[in-house]
Amino acid sequence: MDEIETHLQDQFGPDASLTPLSSANRMGRRVHGVDLSTELTAAQAELLVSLLDEFRIISFPGQDQLGCTVADLERVANHFGAPIPHPYNYANYADFVRDRVPLEVHAPEHRVSAKVNAAFPAAIECADGADSPAVYIVTNLVGSGPDAEPEHVGGQHWHTDIEFQPIPLSTSMFFVQSAPTKRTEGDGTWVTNPPREEGFYHPESASELARRREVLPLNGETAYTDTAAAFAALSPERQRELETVMVRRRLRVGDPGWLVPLVYVNPRNGLKSLHSPVWASRGKRIAPAQVEGLSEDESRFFFDELEEHCLSPEFRYDHDHVPGDVTIWSNFATLHTAPPSKRIVNDVEDARLLYRISCKGEPSFCLPRTDADEWIDENIVPPFRSDLAV
Ligand SMILES: [Fe+2]
Repeated sequence: MDEIETHLQDQFGPDASLTPLSSANRMGRRVHGVDLSTELTAAQAELLVSLLDEFRIISFPGQDQLGCTVADLERVANHFGAPIPHPYNYANYADFVRDRVPLEVHAPEHRVSAKVNAAFPAAIECADGADSPAVYIVTNLVGSGPDAEPEHVGGQHWHTDIEFQPIPLSTSMFFVQSAPTKRTEGDGTWVTNPPREEGFYHPESASELARRREVLPLNGETAYTDTAAAFAALSPERQRELETVMVRRRLRVGDPGWLVPLVYVNPRNGLKSLHSPVWASRGKRIAPAQVEGLSEDESRFFFDELEEHCLSPEFRYDHDHVPGDVTIWSNFATLHTAPPSKRIVNDVEDARLLYRISCKGEPSFCLPRTDADEWIDENIVPPFRSDLAV
């Protein structure tokens, strides 16, 4: 047993253990014997943060059996960073942005949970705690039901959630309630990968990059790639070169923006990673990142080359979601994408229902967090603090 597993058992008892999500030399660990429904001690929280730092993705199976709720997930999230509320939970978010009017959450009948509950009322109902502003309900149940006309949707761009803000999002997590179990008779997958609409990716993307972007799982998994391993695999010369690269990020096209290093260094363990070296997913409302000293076209080419490297099979991992899992990932050391999916379903076996919470800022081993009001106002939009008394 290695040191980190000994530490895990010291903190969580003799049943706690780690197993690889895919293989021992790749990112990702399944953490057994940890009950996220009970409050964590400071030492336990510190250990879980260090596991995420080390392994980039950590997954805790069977949390539903232990009585873990969405409110528990939100409490756990507070250890990793300040939870970011999702705009779609508010009835008047646009008015808030424009006129700073006080925010109001949706009336119960307009909440996403109500729409989810309307799909297959006898079979599936949103869990308690799902209505917190911090929770983004990832689901294909809105608009679905026995009489619905099924719709499919292609995969997203590879991306890192909200990496373009001055303090980027550090951590995201899913609590899985339902994952699709239906498989087609033909190839045995849940969905097929529909052809891309023209213009989805830049038409000049290299053919190998285009190919790697489309190697996607087809059973509702989340696809990840490890940008720390991708960095470590580069030659020492290339690593040194990239460590001097500064990237200009902007919220909107035309903004002056600000500079950040391309290579992220984890302040707690020194792990170096490429922080979202992706150009593809930007460009409509949010300006593409631009390498300092390079033109827009040169930057695209530069990022495309890194994206192609990051999407190499040896850094990839497709996470299969199992009901009851809590899965946490580092946004500083991974890219991910939601693969092709059924967006509207008429069979409960196609249901996908996950609760996502994302957070930013420093971890806090003790709760409640002590983020300054000014920091919250500046970085958590709209301003929000979890009500941990729930
Ligand atoms: Fe995402």
